[in-house]
Amino acid sequence: MQLADIKRVLILGAGTMGQQIGLQCAMHGYEVVYYDLSREILDKAGKSMTKLASWYASTGRLTEEQLQQTLSRISMTPDPAEAAREVDLISESVPEDPVIKGKILAQFNKLCPERTIFTTNTSLLLPSMFAQASGRPEKLCALHFHDLRSNNVVDVMPHPGTAPEVTQLVQDFARSIGQIVILLQKENSGYVFNTMLSSLFLSALTLASKNVASIEDIDRAWMGVTGMSIGPFGIMDQVGLSTVWDITDYWAKKKGDRQAQANADFLKQYVDKGMLGYKTMQGFYSYPNPAYSKKDFLYAESEKGD
Ligand SMILES: NC(=O)c1ccc[n+]([C@@H]2O[C@H](COP(=O)([O-])OP(=O)(O)OC[C@H]3O[C@@H](n4cnc5c(N)ncnc54)[C@H](O)[C@@H]3O)[C@@H](O)[C@H]2O)c1
Repeated sequence: MQLADIKRVLILGAGTMGQQIGLQCAMHGYEVVYYDLSREILDKAGKSMTKLASWYASTGRLTEEQLQQTLSRISMTPDPAEAAREVDLISESVPEDPVIKGKILAQFNKLCPERTIFTTNTSLLLPSMFAQASGRPEKLCALHFHDLRSNNVVDVMPHPGTAPEVTQLVQDFARSIGQIVILLQKENSGYVFNTMLSSLFLSALTLASKNVASIEDIDRAWMGVTGMSIGPFGIMDQVGLSTVWDITDYWAKKKGDRQAQANADFLKQYVDKGMLGYKTMQGFYSYPNPAYSKKDFLYAESEKGD
């Protein structure tokens, strides 16, 4: 199959990521069909995706005409057979569980045409964990998106059984929807950017949980030297502290790492208070005007911890 043969894309899971990915495909001329567990979930997803598309239009990313054309390319169905009809490529964004991912891909393996390429948007799992379960390992490859509202970087990660032409086609497809492609030459949990980011989070959390420096000073160090407008704790607030805690706690327990567990416990204090970062307007910083965005932040004196 060539890129020009890809016309219809099926999005499995119409949650946060599925909505963004499907919209991105439709914006670039692909016919998009969504599948999720019920009509109610799909209706809700449709509303929030339309809101996202309108926001893109309000920021000039889409004209009014493109907005209408984009939305007209999108359909939704809770009927798996209807969803699978004439599909050329699947983008899977169901919950982060290898059993759920394996099951749904196996179900669609039976329903989709033989040519259909399967991609997964898993965050930390490896495609090889559910490649056999999918029923078409040679056509399965990870195509991992970051937050499409703010960036356009994707990881393309084959597993050892992915056919090389499939890896190539998935890269071509990603570029056709405006993405910068990072190709992984071997499987790696966390891909490229997220692997680097988690090391940054780990170092920042270790410094804070050991009381070496304040949260503000740790961010100040990063921002002052790199010239960036946000530091690691500001970024954690943007990602969401419950997500960062989930991942930190999972790996701390899995590896039996004491410092990582202390970092997770440090985060948990915020999560337990409902301080989840930007989405609750309170995390390490208070929003909408966090201290790090103020003009004199770099030169201000840090508040002393206890
Ligand atoms: N949220 C992020 O920032 C982000 C970024 C990159 C990758 N991911 C990955 O993308 C995937 C989805 O994450 P999300 O944040 O969009 O999750 P989400 O919870 O927002 O959405 C998941 C959707 O899958 C649906 N679903 C559950 N079981 C299903 C099934 N058997 N069949 C069909 N649909 C089913 C749910 O109803 C829901 O609509 C995960 O693997 C996650 O790790 C998430």
